[in-house]
Amino acid sequence: MHSSLNFRAPIGVFDSGVGGLSVLRSLRLRLPGERFIYVADSGNAPYGDRDHRFVETRAVDIAGFMWRCHSKALVLACNTVSVVAARALRTRFPVPIVAMEPAIKPAALVTTSKKVLVLATATTIASHAVERLCRLYGSDVQMILQPCPGLVEQVETGAFNDTATTVLLERYLRPGLDAGADTIVLGCTHYPLLRDQIAHIAGPHVTLIEPSEAVARQLAHVLGIPLQTTLAAADGGTVFYTSGSVTVMQRFLGSMGETHPDVRALPELCEPPPLADG
Ligand code: DGL
Repeated sequence: MHSSLNFRAPIGVFDSGVGGLSVLRSLRLRLPGERFIYVADSGNAPYGDRDHRFVETRAVDIAGFMWRCHSKALVLACNTVSVVAARALRTRFPVPIVAMEPAIKPAALVTTSKKVLVLATATTIASHAVERLCRLYGSDVQMILQPCPGLVEQVETGAFNDTATTVLLERYLRPGLDAGADTIVLGCTHYPLLRDQIAHIAGPHVTLIEPSEAVARQLAHVLGIPLQTTLAAADGGTVFYTSGSVTVMQRFLGSMGETHPDVRALPELCEPPPLADG
């Protein structure tokens, strides 16, 4: 029997780095009592400029690690991993896998100017998933697709308020804002960590949309557990793993208000992941 039937088994959450913490925050608030394993592949971030084969191989290796930790579900808290590797992971691991895609559909529903600025990595912007979403929801809405190289690196180093970050944000936001976008899709999980800085440039009349609440709802649905509607104070425990520096991760989590986070080095992922047996 796999741990998917064990309600005390953890939920594995994975991102190329610290960006998925923006998703984990919603999961922990909405699913109190659940245990989580969070894997940040910060030693290999960013994924957005890497070839698909590399991203898929890392995703399979890390999902294999979370599987061996008896995860009862996996959350791909990374749009880039989702568009590149979700299918490969689903054929390999027989646990529920919740993937992400940029929140283009809800953005198309709320925009009144009929112009939406979509910020994401170059890989996500060029993906079939985004092409499909634009085709489905962009018939009467202009989708302004903006890749944002360099932003993930700024978030990884905690450089939220550096001049270099502001320069990049101005460069990526200004053309869409000047074109009349009233809605911005944060299509990379690192970008909600820059929410204040983005809101400051965009101004109060622009709506920022990111899907972490929808991910929490979907996870609760696939696991058949109730979603907490009033925000809870604590979760059932989270262990953080990183392929980067443990000290840097501890400092990062501390800056997000985490007290005494349990941060461990991600073990070498040399064991082949198991194949799904149905
Ligand atoms: N957080 C990842 C995403 O949502 C960032 C990918 C990267 O490392 O470039 O796409």
